[in-house]
Amino acid sequence: MNHILKFNLNGEAVEVAVKSNEKLLDVLRDKLGAVSAKFGCGVAECGACTVLIDGLSVRSCITFAVEVEGKSIVTLEGLQADGPTKIQKAFIKHNAFQCGFCAPGFIMSATELIEKNPSPDEEEMRHALSGNLCRCTGYQNIVNAMNEVAEDNRKEAGK
Ligand code: FES
Ligand code: FES
Repeated sequence: MNHILKFNLNGEAVEVAVKSNEKLLDVLRDKLGAVSAKFGCGVAECGACTVLIDGLSVRSCITFAVEVEGKSIVTLEGLQADGPTKIQKAFIKHNAFQCGFCAPGFIMSATELIEKNPSPDEEEMRHALSGNLCRCTGYQNIVNAMNEVAEDNRKEAGK
């Protein structure tokens, strides 16, 4: 049976018919065009499907769409509405991805961290990104990009 689901996606109110067992990732990608979230493993192990739900990073591959009724979802499409974010620019500058499949998920997890803690130390970064896997880069360039963001935020805060 279809359920008419209402939530906010990237700042816009959306209404979409979903089945009770449909996963949020499939609804985002197949019904709402938010294809930045990727299907990697489907079992919450790789982080490629990460989106923010009310500001918290969540694996959309294991989240039932009906769970997000009335909530606010942000995908990479929503983050970059005004152009690449500071985190995205740093990822590009530091070659923090190669094929790019994992990058939206990393950027969503990184965004959650930076919104809570604008200048995390390296241990906090590695912990926040530990649920995201990358098969291409190794992780050092990603940490280098995050270090630049943290350093920039420290400077902006006058610390
Ligand atoms: Fe969701 Fe891998 S596709 S964690
Ligand atoms: Fe290819 Fe991370 S850049 S999986």
